[in-house]
Amino acid sequence: MPLLDCSVKKDACTVPAMEPATDVHAFAPGRVNLIGEHTDHTDGLCLPMAVSMGVTVRGRREGDRVVLSSSEVAGTTDIPLDVEDPAAVDPDWARYAAGVVAELRPAVGFTGGLRSDVPVGAGMSSSAALTVALALALGHDGDLEALARSCQLAEQRATGVPCGILDQLASAAAREGHAFVLDCHTLERTHVEVPDDIEVRVVHSGQERTLAGSAYDERRAQCEAAEGVVGPLRLARPSDLDAIDDPVLRRRARHVVSENQRVRDAADALRAGDLGGLGALLDEGHRSLRDDFEVSTPVVDATVERLRSQPGVHGVRLMGGGFGGCVVAVTDPGALDEGWHARPGPGAWVEVG
Ligand code: GLA
Repeated sequence: MPLLDCSVKKDACTVPAMEPATDVHAFAPGRVNLIGEHTDHTDGLCLPMAVSMGVTVRGRREGDRVVLSSSEVAGTTDIPLDVEDPAAVDPDWARYAAGVVAELRPAVGFTGGLRSDVPVGAGMSSSAALTVALALALGHDGDLEALARSCQLAEQRATGVPCGILDQLASAAAREGHAFVLDCHTLERTHVEVPDDIEVRVVHSGQERTLAGSAYDERRAQCEAAEGVVGPLRLARPSDLDAIDDPVLRRRARHVVSENQRVRDAADALRAGDLGGLGALLDEGHRSLRDDFEVSTPVVDATVERLRSQPGVHGVRLMGGGFGGCVVAVTDPGALDEGWHARPGPGAWVEVG
């Protein structure tokens, strides 16, 4: 069977009708979001790219259960195809697998293993990589948007966190050598080449984070409350926000509206190879996440400041949901020797047979 490269063709994820005991090899990458944080849940704009690190699932479609082992974590998980409550499955990583099973309800089970080199809890979407790779391994037969939507719902089932679609679509739809502007309202994607002389570095702040138990839901609810006053934030202009009386809601909305504009400007800077301009937007984005959206922490702020003061570093900001995790920096090549050099990698793929 051919290699199905989901990063290239829109409908490439369609997997032929499966026979029992089919050998499968699937991969889905983690992602870096250059800018556009906390905009996906109000249907705004983001600028993600896949990284070369990801989750690989290998095994056979067979039986009536999904039996998976992980090379990083001891133990095997054994999930019935009619699993009812993914959030109750152990260990934690298996909840995401159970979420995928509950979302897809495949007719045939799976026996195999998964391997991940995406750092967990770092804001690089290890969980989205897991759900996308497993959904492909189980035979998801929709287009990229449907694949990402199923995996978003699987993650919501697993964690109870009402996450947006950024991580899953970034993993499913990325293109090697490119970042892309993702319009979370239409799910339209505009790929933008990342020039070789712009290095993207991801550095862990040292503070672990998970979205479950964080104020993610509260922030999302605050954005919805702001939309109750001014309508969709994706369409709002900065001056519209004066109509919001509550100063906290107004700040939350100001982050979203200004961040959507920063995504447009950052895509232009990338196209122009303007590293200084791109960096300034990341710096501004961090200040907005820190002061208006209030999802940074003193540890993350200190990491941002420390890296920003180094020569050849043009901009640094908190990445992902916040409350810890990683920061992303844009630098001259070789300027930083810590963290991970995030090379824009291909989107998810599956090989069957
Ligand atoms: C997490 C969520 C995403 C997105 C980011 C913030 O990564 O899973 O949907 O909301 O936070 O941009």
